[in-house]
Amino acid sequence: MVNVPEEEARVYAERTKLSRRLFEGNSKLTPFGVHSNYRFVDPYPLYVSRARGDRLWDVDGNEYLDFNMGFGVLMSGHAHPTLVSAMRDAIGEGTIYGFECEDTYTLGGILTKRFGLDMVRFSTTGLEATHHAVRIARAHTSRKKVLKFEGCYHGSHDTLLVSIKPTADKAGDPRRPNRVPASQGVPQEVVDNTLVAPFNDLEATERIVEENSGDLAAVILEPIPMNMGFVPPKKGFLEGLRKLCDKEGCVLIFDEVKTSGKFYSGAAGYFGVKPDLMVLGKAIAGGYPLSVVGGKREVMETIVPGKVSHAGTFNSNPLSVRAGVVTMSQILTEQAYSEAYRLGDELAAGYRDSLADRRINAYVEWIGLSGAVFFGGKRVENWRDFLKCDVGAWWTYYIAMLNRGVIPGGTGPDEQWTISVQHTEDSVKKHLEVLDQVLVKLRESKLTMDLVEAI
Ligand SMILES: Cc1ncc(COP(=O)(O)O)c(C=O)c1O
Repeated sequence: MVNVPEEEARVYAERTKLSRRLFEGNSKLTPFGVHSNYRFVDPYPLYVSRARGDRLWDVDGNEYLDFNMGFGVLMSGHAHPTLVSAMRDAIGEGTIYGFECEDTYTLGGILTKRFGLDMVRFSTTGLEATHHAVRIARAHTSRKKVLKFEGCYHGSHDTLLVSIKPTADKAGDPRRPNRVPASQGVPQEVVDNTLVAPFNDLEATERIVEENSGDLAAVILEPIPMNMGFVPPKKGFLEGLRKLCDKEGCVLIFDEVKTSGKFYSGAAGYFGVKPDLMVLGKAIAGGYPLSVVGGKREVMETIVPGKVSHAGTFNSNPLSVRAGVVTMSQILTEQAYSEAYRLGDELAAGYRDSLADRRINAYVEWIGLSGAVFFGGKRVENWRDFLKCDVGAWWTYYIAMLNRGVIPGGTGPDEQWTISVQHTEDSVKKHLEVLDQVLVKLRESKLTMDLVEAI
Protein backbone atom coordinates (compact mmCIF):
# COMPACT_ATOMS: atom_id res chain seq x y z
CA MET A 1 0.00 0.00 0.00
CA VAL A 2 1.05 3.62 -0.40
CA ASN A 3 3.32 4.52 2.49
CA VAL A 4 0.77 5.41 5.18
CA PRO A 5 0.77 4.55 8.89
CA GLU A 6 0.06 0.89 9.57
CA GLU A 7 -3.11 1.58 11.52
CA GLU A 8 -4.67 3.58 8.65
CA ALA A 9 -3.62 0.92 6.12
CA ARG A 10 -5.24 -1.76 8.26
CA VAL A 11 -8.52 0.19 8.61
CA TYR A 12 -8.59 0.85 4.86
CA ALA A 13 -8.06 -2.84 4.09
CA GLU A 14 -10.77 -3.82 6.58
CA ARG A 15 -13.31 -1.38 5.06
CA THR A 16 -12.67 -2.23 1.42
CA LYS A 17 -12.59 -6.02 1.23
CA LEU A 18 -14.97 -6.21 -1.73
CA SER A 19 -12.98 -3.62 -3.66
CA ARG A 20 -9.91 -5.74 -3.13
CA ARG A 21 -11.76 -8.86 -4.26
CA LEU A 22 -13.03 -7.13 -7.41
CA PHE A 23 -9.54 -5.97 -8.23
CA GLU A 24 -7.90 -9.33 -7.65
CA GLY A 25 -10.64 -11.18 -9.53
CA ASN A 26 -10.62 -8.94 -12.59
CA SER A 27 -7.25 -7.31 -13.02
CA LYS A 28 -6.34 -10.00 -15.56
CA LEU A 29 -8.95 -8.48 -17.89
CA THR A 30 -7.55 -4.97 -17.82
CA PRO A 31 -4.02 -3.66 -17.20
CA PHE A 32 -3.87 -2.72 -13.51
CA GLY A 33 -7.64 -3.24 -13.34
CA VAL A 34 -8.45 0.32 -14.44
CA HIS A 35 -9.40 2.06 -17.68
CA SER A 36 -7.44 5.22 -16.91
CA ASN A 37 -3.98 5.14 -15.33
CA TYR A 38 -5.02 7.99 -13.05
CA ARG A 39 -7.50 5.67 -11.33
CA PHE A 40 -4.94 3.17 -10.15
CA VAL A 41 -4.01 3.41 -6.49
CA ASP A 42 -1.59 1.02 -4.86
CA PRO A 43 -2.53 -1.71 -3.88
CA TYR A 44 -6.03 -1.54 -5.44
CA PRO A 45 -8.52 1.17 -6.36
CA LEU A 46 -11.89 1.76 -4.72
CA TYR A 47 -14.86 0.38 -6.62
CA VAL A 48 -17.96 2.52 -6.50
CA SER A 49 -21.52 1.30 -6.84
CA ARG A 50 -23.57 4.52 -6.93
CA ALA A 51 -23.55 8.24 -6.29
CA ARG A 52 -26.07 10.95 -5.56
CA GLY A 53 -25.88 14.62 -4.57
CA ASP A 54 -22.60 15.16 -2.69
CA ARG A 55 -22.16 11.51 -1.73
CA LEU A 56 -21.05 8.21 -3.18
CA TRP A 57 -21.04 4.63 -1.97
CA ASP A 58 -18.38 1.99 -2.56
CA VAL A 59 -19.12 -1.67 -3.24
CA ASP A 60 -18.53 -2.49 0.45
CA GLY A 61 -21.40 -0.15 1.34
CA ASN A 62 -19.22 2.62 2.81
CA GLU A 63 -20.69 6.10 2.35
CA TYR A 64 -18.40 8.98 1.43
CA LEU A 65 -18.86 12.71 1.21
CA ASP A 66 -17.34 13.37 -2.17
CA PHE A 67 -15.10 16.37 -2.86
CA ASN A 68 -13.40 14.70 -5.83
CA MET A 69 -16.53 14.94 -7.97
CA GLY A 70 -15.21 12.81 -10.82
CA PHE A 71 -11.85 14.65 -10.93
CA GLY A 72 -13.60 18.01 -11.07
CA VAL A 73 -16.27 17.08 -13.59
CA LEU A 74 -19.31 17.45 -11.42
CA MET A 75 -19.91 21.03 -10.38
CA SER A 76 -23.55 20.00 -10.72
CA GLY A 77 -23.04 17.17 -8.19
CA HIS A 78 -23.99 13.55 -8.71
CA ALA A 79 -27.27 12.69 -10.43
CA HIS A 80 -28.70 16.20 -10.26
CA PRO A 81 -32.51 15.69 -10.27
CA THR A 82 -33.08 18.27 -13.03
CA LEU A 83 -30.54 16.57 -15.25
CA VAL A 84 -31.75 13.05 -14.45
CA SER A 85 -35.29 13.94 -15.42
CA ALA A 86 -34.23 15.70 -18.65
CA MET A 87 -31.98 12.81 -19.66
CA ARG A 88 -34.70 10.21 -19.07
CA ASP A 89 -36.70 11.97 -21.79
CA ALA A 90 -33.66 12.49 -24.00
CA ILE A 91 -32.69 8.80 -24.05
CA GLY A 92 -36.11 7.95 -25.46
CA GLU A 93 -35.47 10.24 -28.44
CA GLY A 94 -32.41 8.29 -29.64
CA THR A 95 -28.78 8.38 -28.70
CA ILE A 96 -26.93 9.18 -31.91
CA TYR A 97 -28.21 10.36 -35.29
CA GLY A 98 -25.14 10.79 -37.51
CA PHE A 99 -26.64 14.22 -38.30
CA GLU A 100 -26.60 17.50 -36.45
CA CYS A 101 -29.54 18.46 -34.22
CA GLU A 102 -30.94 21.83 -33.23
CA ASP A 103 -29.77 21.53 -29.60
CA THR A 104 -26.16 21.91 -30.78
CA TYR A 105 -26.91 25.49 -31.79
CA THR A 106 -28.76 26.19 -28.56
CA LEU A 107 -25.71 25.00 -26.63
CA GLY A 108 -23.33 26.76 -29.02
CA GLY A 109 -25.23 30.00 -28.38
CA ILE A 110 -25.05 29.56 -24.59
CA LEU A 111 -21.34 28.74 -24.59
CA THR A 112 -20.21 31.44 -27.01
CA LYS A 113 -22.04 34.10 -24.98
CA ARG A 114 -20.88 32.82 -21.61
CA PHE A 115 -17.21 32.21 -22.50
CA GLY A 116 -16.74 35.09 -24.97
CA LEU A 117 -16.14 32.87 -28.02
CA ASP A 118 -17.06 33.56 -31.66
CA MET A 119 -17.39 29.93 -32.78
CA VAL A 120 -17.32 26.44 -31.27
CA ARG A 121 -16.85 22.83 -32.34
CA PHE A 122 -17.85 19.98 -30.03
CA SER A 123 -16.15 16.68 -29.35
CA THR A 124 -16.21 14.15 -26.53
CA THR A 125 -13.10 14.27 -24.35
CA GLY A 126 -10.63 16.92 -23.26
CA LEU A 127 -7.88 14.97 -25.01
CA GLU A 128 -9.62 15.31 -28.38
CA ALA A 129 -10.33 19.00 -27.94
CA THR A 130 -6.74 19.97 -27.01
CA HIS A 131 -5.50 17.76 -29.85
CA HIS A 132 -7.79 19.59 -32.28
CA ALA A 133 -6.81 22.97 -30.85
CA VAL A 134 -3.15 22.25 -31.55
CA ARG A 135 -3.91 21.08 -35.09
CA ILE A 136 -5.98 24.18 -35.79
CA ALA A 137 -3.15 26.40 -34.48
CA ARG A 138 -0.57 24.59 -36.60
CA ALA A 139 -2.73 24.87 -39.73
CA HIS A 140 -3.58 28.50 -39.00
CA THR A 141 0.06 29.56 -38.59
CA SER A 142 1.68 27.00 -40.93
CA ARG A 143 4.17 26.34 -38.10
CA LYS A 144 5.04 23.20 -36.15
CA LYS A 145 6.20 23.93 -32.62
CA VAL A 146 3.99 24.13 -29.57
CA LEU A 147 4.99 25.51 -26.19
CA LYS A 148 3.53 24.01 -23.03
CA PHE A 149 4.33 24.47 -19.34
CA GLU A 150 6.03 22.01 -17.05
CA GLY A 151 3.48 20.29 -14.81
CA CYS A 152 0.46 21.10 -17.02
CA TYR A 153 -1.62 18.20 -18.36
CA HIS A 154 -3.70 18.45 -21.51
CA GLY A 155 -4.85 14.86 -22.09
CA SER A 156 -3.11 11.68 -23.08
CA HIS A 157 -1.93 12.55 -26.61
CA ASP A 158 1.62 12.55 -27.89
CA THR A 159 2.26 16.23 -28.68
CA LEU A 160 1.37 17.34 -25.17
CA LEU A 161 2.42 14.24 -23.25
CA VAL A 162 5.69 15.92 -22.36
CA SER A 163 7.02 17.16 -18.98
CA ILE A 164 3.84 16.46 -17.06
CA LYS A 165 5.37 15.09 -13.90
CA PRO A 166 9.11 14.94 -14.56
CA THR A 167 11.21 13.84 -11.59
CA ALA A 168 13.86 16.26 -10.31
CA ASP A 169 16.73 14.16 -11.72
CA LYS A 170 15.32 14.41 -15.26
CA ALA A 171 13.74 17.86 -15.27
CA GLY A 172 16.95 19.87 -15.80
CA ASP A 173 17.39 23.62 -15.41
CA PRO A 174 14.24 25.05 -13.74
CA ARG A 175 14.25 28.07 -16.05
CA ARG A 176 14.94 26.04 -19.19
CA PRO A 177 13.34 22.69 -18.45
CA ASN A 178 14.25 19.51 -20.31
CA ARG A 179 11.50 18.06 -22.47
CA VAL A 180 10.71 14.82 -20.70
CA PRO A 181 8.28 12.41 -22.42
CA ALA A 182 5.62 11.38 -19.92
CA SER A 183 5.17 7.99 -21.54
CA GLN A 184 7.15 5.49 -23.51
CA GLY A 185 5.82 5.30 -27.05
CA VAL A 186 5.92 9.03 -27.69
CA PRO A 187 8.28 9.43 -30.68
CA GLN A 188 11.31 11.70 -30.19
CA GLU A 189 10.36 13.61 -33.39
CA VAL A 190 7.11 14.59 -31.66
CA VAL A 191 8.89 15.65 -28.47
CA ASP A 192 11.26 17.75 -30.59
CA ASN A 193 8.35 19.96 -31.60
CA THR A 194 7.11 20.48 -28.05
CA LEU A 195 8.80 23.23 -26.09
CA VAL A 196 8.56 23.35 -22.29
CA ALA A 197 8.64 26.46 -20.13
CA PRO A 198 8.31 27.04 -16.36
CA PHE A 199 4.82 28.17 -15.29
CA ASN A 200 4.64 31.64 -13.75
CA ASP A 201 8.04 32.65 -15.16
CA LEU A 202 7.33 35.11 -17.96
CA GLU A 203 10.94 36.07 -18.53
CA ALA A 204 12.09 32.47 -19.04
CA THR A 205 9.09 31.83 -21.32
CA GLU A 206 9.88 34.91 -23.42
CA ARG A 207 13.43 33.70 -23.88
CA ILE A 208 12.31 30.26 -25.08
CA VAL A 209 9.78 31.84 -27.45
CA GLU A 210 12.39 34.23 -28.86
CA GLU A 211 14.80 31.37 -29.48
CA ASN A 212 12.09 29.66 -31.54
CA SER A 213 10.74 32.77 -33.19
CA GLY A 214 8.97 32.09 -36.48
CA ASP A 215 8.47 28.38 -35.65
CA LEU A 216 5.92 28.59 -32.87
CA ALA A 217 2.31 27.70 -33.71
CA ALA A 218 0.83 27.89 -30.21
CA VAL A 219 1.31 28.43 -26.52
CA ILE A 220 -1.01 26.18 -24.53
CA LEU A 221 -1.60 26.26 -20.78
CA GLU A 222 -4.00 25.56 -17.99
CA PRO A 223 -4.62 29.14 -16.80
CA ILE A 224 -4.71 27.69 -13.28
CA PRO A 225 -2.70 24.48 -13.38
CA MET A 226 -4.84 21.88 -11.63
CA ASN A 227 -2.59 18.95 -12.35
CA MET A 228 -0.07 20.11 -9.78
CA GLY A 229 -2.66 20.86 -7.12
CA PHE A 230 -4.01 24.35 -7.58
CA VAL A 231 -1.57 27.00 -8.80
CA PRO A 232 -2.97 30.46 -9.59
CA PRO A 233 -1.08 32.49 -12.19
CA LYS A 234 1.02 35.35 -10.82
CA LYS A 235 -0.28 38.83 -11.50
CA GLY A 236 0.62 39.79 -15.07
CA PHE A 237 1.59 36.26 -16.20
CA LEU A 238 -1.47 35.58 -18.37
CA GLU A 239 -1.46 39.17 -19.69
CA GLY A 240 2.25 38.79 -20.51
CA LEU A 241 1.59 35.58 -22.45
CA ARG A 242 -1.21 37.32 -24.36
CA LYS A 243 1.23 40.06 -25.45
CA LEU A 244 3.95 37.54 -26.23
CA CYS A 245 1.67 35.51 -28.52
CA ASP A 246 0.48 38.68 -30.27
CA LYS A 247 4.08 39.71 -30.87
CA GLU A 248 5.07 36.25 -32.08
CA GLY A 249 1.93 35.76 -34.20
CA CYS A 250 1.11 32.44 -32.57
CA VAL A 251 -2.13 31.11 -31.13
CA LEU A 252 -2.72 31.40 -27.38
CA ILE A 253 -4.73 28.38 -26.19
CA PHE A 254 -6.29 28.23 -22.74
CA ASP A 255 -6.96 24.64 -21.78
CA GLU A 256 -10.00 25.20 -19.60
CA VAL A 257 -11.00 21.53 -19.43
CA LYS A 258 -10.89 21.85 -15.64
CA THR A 259 -11.31 25.59 -15.11
CA SER A 260 -14.32 26.01 -17.41
CA GLY A 261 -16.57 24.62 -14.68
CA LYS A 262 -14.84 26.29 -11.77
CA PHE A 263 -15.84 29.82 -12.76
CA TYR A 264 -19.06 31.02 -14.36
CA SER A 265 -17.16 32.23 -17.48
CA GLY A 266 -14.04 30.14 -17.06
CA ALA A 267 -10.63 31.37 -15.98
CA ALA A 268 -10.45 33.64 -19.03
CA GLY A 269 -13.53 35.47 -17.76
CA TYR A 270 -12.26 35.46 -14.17
CA PHE A 271 -8.83 36.88 -15.02
CA GLY A 272 -10.04 39.03 -17.93
CA VAL A 273 -7.55 37.67 -20.49
CA LYS A 274 -8.87 36.49 -23.83
CA PRO A 275 -7.09 33.60 -25.56
CA ASP A 276 -7.36 32.88 -29.30
CA LEU A 277 -8.66 29.38 -28.64
CA MET A 278 -10.24 27.95 -25.53
CA VAL A 279 -10.85 24.30 -24.72
CA LEU A 280 -13.78 23.47 -22.46
CA GLY A 281 -14.62 20.09 -20.96
CA LYS A 282 -15.50 18.09 -17.87
CA ALA A 283 -18.25 20.13 -16.13
CA ILE A 284 -20.06 21.62 -19.08
CA ALA A 285 -22.45 18.72 -19.65
CA GLY A 286 -22.98 17.80 -16.00
CA GLY A 287 -21.05 14.53 -16.25
CA TYR A 288 -21.96 13.54 -19.80
CA PRO A 289 -18.94 13.44 -22.11
CA LEU A 290 -18.64 16.68 -24.05
CA SER A 291 -15.70 18.92 -24.89
CA VAL A 292 -15.38 22.06 -26.93
CA VAL A 293 -12.75 23.89 -28.89
CA GLY A 294 -13.82 27.44 -29.50
CA GLY A 295 -12.47 30.90 -30.01
CA LYS A 296 -11.85 33.68 -32.46
CA ARG A 297 -13.61 33.41 -35.79
CA GLU A 298 -10.47 33.88 -37.89
CA VAL A 299 -8.76 30.98 -36.08
CA MET A 300 -11.80 28.67 -35.93
CA GLU A 301 -12.46 29.18 -39.63
CA THR A 302 -9.18 27.39 -40.27
CA ILE A 303 -11.31 24.23 -39.99
CA VAL A 304 -12.36 23.44 -43.57
CA PRO A 305 -13.66 20.04 -44.71
CA GLY A 306 -11.06 18.39 -46.91
CA LYS A 307 -8.31 20.73 -45.73
CA VAL A 308 -8.11 20.88 -41.94
CA SER A 309 -9.62 17.97 -40.07
CA HIS A 310 -11.94 18.14 -37.10
CA ALA A 311 -14.02 14.99 -36.78
CA GLY A 312 -15.53 12.41 -34.43
CA THR A 313 -18.43 9.95 -34.53
CA PHE A 314 -19.69 11.01 -31.12
CA ASN A 315 -19.12 14.75 -31.64
CA SER A 316 -22.24 16.72 -30.65
CA ASN A 317 -24.15 13.53 -29.87
CA PRO A 318 -27.69 14.44 -28.86
CA LEU A 319 -27.42 13.09 -25.31
CA SER A 320 -24.32 15.05 -24.35
CA VAL A 321 -25.59 18.17 -26.06
CA ARG A 322 -28.96 18.00 -24.29
CA ALA A 323 -27.12 17.48 -21.00
CA GLY A 324 -25.00 20.54 -21.83
CA VAL A 325 -28.03 22.72 -22.48
CA VAL A 326 -29.72 21.67 -19.22
CA THR A 327 -26.52 21.96 -17.16
CA MET A 328 -25.52 25.36 -18.49
CA SER A 329 -28.95 26.95 -18.49
CA GLN A 330 -30.62 25.43 -15.42
CA ILE A 331 -27.96 24.11 -13.04
CA LEU A 332 -24.67 25.99 -13.28
CA THR A 333 -26.28 29.42 -13.07
CA GLU A 334 -24.60 32.57 -11.80
CA GLN A 335 -26.68 32.34 -8.62
CA ALA A 336 -25.64 28.72 -8.02
CA TYR A 337 -21.98 29.67 -8.41
CA SER A 338 -22.16 32.45 -5.84
CA GLU A 339 -23.63 30.07 -3.21
CA ALA A 340 -21.04 27.37 -3.97
CA TYR A 341 -18.24 29.97 -3.83
CA ARG A 342 -19.27 30.84 -0.29
CA LEU A 343 -18.92 27.17 0.70
CA GLY A 344 -15.55 27.02 -1.07
CA ASP A 345 -14.31 29.96 1.00
CA GLU A 346 -15.59 28.33 4.20
CA LEU A 347 -13.82 25.08 3.41
CA ALA A 348 -10.51 26.77 2.59
CA ALA A 349 -10.65 29.02 5.66
CA GLY A 350 -11.39 25.92 7.79
CA TYR A 351 -8.31 24.18 6.34
CA ARG A 352 -6.14 27.18 7.12
CA ASP A 353 -7.41 27.43 10.70
CA SER A 354 -7.09 23.72 11.42
CA LEU A 355 -3.59 23.50 9.96
CA ALA A 356 -2.54 26.48 12.07
CA ASP A 357 -4.21 25.13 15.24
CA ARG A 358 -2.56 21.73 14.81
CA ARG A 359 0.74 23.36 13.84
CA ILE A 360 1.04 21.41 10.59
CA ASN A 361 3.51 22.80 8.09
CA ALA A 362 1.21 23.08 5.07
CA TYR A 363 -0.10 25.66 2.65
CA VAL A 364 -3.64 26.10 1.31
CA GLU A 365 -4.34 27.61 -2.09
CA TRP A 366 -7.84 28.15 -3.48
CA ILE A 367 -10.14 30.32 -5.50
CA GLY A 368 -13.87 29.72 -5.29
CA LEU A 369 -14.92 26.12 -5.81
CA SER A 370 -11.50 24.51 -5.84
CA GLY A 371 -8.37 24.44 -3.80
CA ALA A 372 -5.56 22.23 -2.58
CA VAL A 373 -3.42 21.64 0.46
CA PHE A 374 0.35 21.37 -0.04
CA PHE A 375 2.20 19.72 2.81
CA GLY A 376 5.68 21.02 3.41
CA GLY A 377 4.69 24.61 3.87
CA LYS A 378 6.07 26.39 0.81
CA ARG A 379 3.96 28.26 -1.68
CA VAL A 380 3.73 26.35 -4.97
CA GLU A 381 4.15 28.55 -8.03
CA ASN A 382 5.33 25.91 -10.50
CA TRP A 383 6.23 22.24 -10.89
CA ARG A 384 9.64 22.56 -9.20
CA ASP A 385 7.98 23.92 -6.05
CA PHE A 386 5.49 21.08 -6.21
CA LEU A 387 8.33 18.55 -6.28
CA LYS A 388 9.44 19.82 -2.87
CA CYS A 389 6.08 19.05 -1.22
CA ASP A 390 5.70 16.23 1.26
CA VAL A 391 3.80 13.71 -0.82
CA GLY A 392 3.87 11.06 1.93
CA ALA A 393 2.04 13.41 4.30
CA TRP A 394 -0.56 14.00 1.61
CA TRP A 395 -1.27 10.26 1.17
CA THR A 396 -1.61 9.79 4.90
CA TYR A 397 -4.12 12.65 4.99
CA TYR A 398 -5.99 11.20 2.00
CA ILE A 399 -6.30 7.61 3.23
CA ALA A 400 -7.14 8.76 6.76
CA MET A 401 -9.91 11.00 5.36
CA LEU A 402 -11.29 8.08 3.30
CA ASN A 403 -11.28 5.88 6.39
CA ARG A 404 -13.51 8.47 8.08
CA GLY A 405 -15.95 8.80 5.18
CA VAL A 406 -14.66 11.86 3.31
CA ILE A 407 -13.06 11.88 -0.14
CA PRO A 408 -11.21 15.15 0.33
CA GLY A 409 -10.41 15.79 -3.35
CA GLY A 410 -9.03 14.12 -6.45
CA THR A 411 -6.90 11.00 -6.04
CA GLY A 412 -3.34 12.28 -5.73
CA PRO A 413 -1.41 15.21 -4.24
CA ASP A 414 -1.45 16.83 -7.69
CA GLU A 415 -5.28 17.06 -7.56
CA GLN A 416 -7.66 19.44 -5.75
CA TRP A 417 -11.06 19.56 -4.08
CA THR A 418 -14.23 20.49 -5.90
CA ILE A 419 -17.38 21.98 -4.41
CA SER A 420 -20.56 21.30 -6.35
CA VAL A 421 -23.91 23.05 -6.30
CA GLN A 422 -25.20 20.08 -4.27
CA HIS A 423 -22.72 20.46 -1.42
CA THR A 424 -24.15 22.02 1.73
CA GLU A 425 -22.99 23.81 4.88
CA ASP A 426 -23.29 20.44 6.64
CA SER A 427 -21.05 18.64 4.17
CA VAL A 428 -18.36 21.31 4.51
CA LYS A 429 -18.67 21.15 8.32
CA LYS A 430 -18.28 17.35 8.29
CA HIS A 431 -15.25 17.62 5.98
CA LEU A 432 -13.60 20.04 8.40
CA GLU A 433 -14.41 17.96 11.50
CA VAL A 434 -12.83 14.91 9.92
CA LEU A 435 -9.88 16.98 8.72
CA ASP A 436 -9.16 18.06 12.26
CA GLN A 437 -9.11 14.44 13.51
CA VAL A 438 -6.82 13.50 10.64
CA LEU A 439 -4.37 16.33 11.24
CA VAL A 440 -3.88 15.04 14.76
CA LYS A 441 -2.89 11.66 13.26
CA LEU A 442 -0.67 13.36 10.74
CA ARG A 443 1.39 15.08 13.39
CA GLU A 444 2.25 11.64 14.70
CA SER A 445 3.60 10.37 11.35
CA LYS A 446 6.58 11.49 9.32
CA LEU A 447 6.41 9.67 6.01
CA THR A 448 7.47 10.48 2.50
CA MET A 449 6.86 8.87 -0.82
CA ASP A 450 7.81 9.55 -4.42
CA LEU A 451 5.34 10.51 -7.13
CA VAL A 452 4.81 8.06 -9.95
CA GLU A 453 6.46 9.61 -12.97
CA ALA A 454 4.61 8.11 -15.93
CA ILE A 455 0.95 8.79 -16.58
C1 LIG B 1 -6.50 20.51 -17.96
C2 LIG B 1 -6.88 19.24 -18.63
N1 LIG B 1 -6.89 19.18 -19.97
C3 LIG B 1 -7.24 18.06 -20.64
C4 LIG B 1 -7.59 16.94 -19.96
C5 LIG B 1 -7.98 15.69 -20.71
O1 LIG B 1 -9.34 15.51 -20.62
P1 LIG B 1 -9.95 14.04 -20.84
O2 LIG B 1 -9.52 13.22 -19.68
O3 LIG B 1 -11.43 14.29 -20.89
O4 LIG B 1 -9.42 13.53 -22.13
C6 LIG B 1 -7.59 16.95 -18.56
C7 LIG B 1 -7.98 15.75 -17.80
O5 LIG B 1 -7.93 15.67 -16.61
C8 LIG B 1 -7.23 18.13 -17.87
O6 LIG B 1 -7.20 18.18 -16.53
